[in-house]
Amino acid sequence: MEHTRRLSAEPAGIAEAARLLRAGRNIAFPTETVYGLGAVATDAAAVAGIYAAKGRPSFNPLIVHLAHLDQAREIAQLPEAAERLADVFWPGPLTLVVPLREDAGIASGVTSGLPSIAIRLPSHPLAHRLLTEVAAPVAAPSANPSGQISPTTADHVLGGLDGRIAGVLDGGPCTVGLESTILDMTDAPCLLRAGGIPVEAIEAALGGALAPAPTRAPTAPIAPGQLSSHYAPRAEVRLNADQLAPGETRLGFGAGPEPWTLSANGDLREAAANLFACLHAMDAAGVTAIAVSPIPNTGIGLAINDRLHRAAAPRS
Ligand code: TXA
Ligand code: MG
Repeated sequence: MEHTRRLSAEPAGIAEAARLLRAGRNIAFPTETVYGLGAVATDAAAVAGIYAAKGRPSFNPLIVHLAHLDQAREIAQLPEAAERLADVFWPGPLTLVVPLREDAGIASGVTSGLPSIAIRLPSHPLAHRLLTEVAAPVAAPSANPSGQISPTTADHVLGGLDGRIAGVLDGGPCTVGLESTILDMTDAPCLLRAGGIPVEAIEAALGGALAPAPTRAPTAPIAPGQLSSHYAPRAEVRLNADQLAPGETRLGFGAGPEPWTLSANGDLREAAANLFACLHAMDAAGVTAIAVSPIPNTGIGLAINDRLHRAAAPRS
């Protein structure tokens, strides 16, 4: 066990978080999507520390977070379509998988030895300040034990990783509330994970439809976000529930007198921002069976339904 420090969103707290990262420690920090668990991406031992703290299977590559577009061009090759998307959506909740520059010095634990790398520029001002002070690429998966619900507050991070990491920079709740959209840009652009930027907006920026995602055997996932059971609360989860079964507690969307709701007035962005916090809070309240109201599958609703399907999947 190590003592996990809560660092304040003040210049001294940011400077200490940057110092600890540069010293090879693992620090959780807020992004606009969820809290990430950071390590300097060129430091193989620090990257290994992420896997150890999360209990993450070692076949899963990590997203590298950058302060500036120039850093992206230094560690990766950005195809023309990637440059266009970066221009429109960065900084923001979009991750691009692009060819890695072999001489960039990125630890192989970041890419799982793949010839590609996942990169993004977060828009959270605190993340941007931290990345600027670290002045190095920072690998960061969501700051939760592998398979559990992603954290959208510093308290969520401490609830899962207290004693396993050096610290958490406390920036309050995340505004988007679920992870970035991931696109594979190494060939015709295709969606790897629905997330904070709606597919419709990406297709509008590209001027055409995304290619169908490659199908993979369910026994050989390349990513935790692609494992069938993920983002899992302790409670059982049932989706598209019109009626409540005995023993169930409703997680509502739209009108209704529920004690738990993703958005009382049916706003998908508000529902995304509340999703993981609701699942954390329902677990903490001892709810054992959750019945989720139907949620439209458009815009960020696609990402909400993706996370809910994984939360509802049979546990291994
Ligand atoms: O919003 C987010 O994306 C958050 C915050 C912290 O930035 N991060 C996050 O990271 O969700 P993580 O580790 O939970 O998801 C990383 C995903 C992997 O599951 C995998 O699908 C994909 O990124 N990925 C990373 N590198 C890849 C690569 N070279 N090829 C294909 N997919 C890759
Ligand atoms: Mg995750």
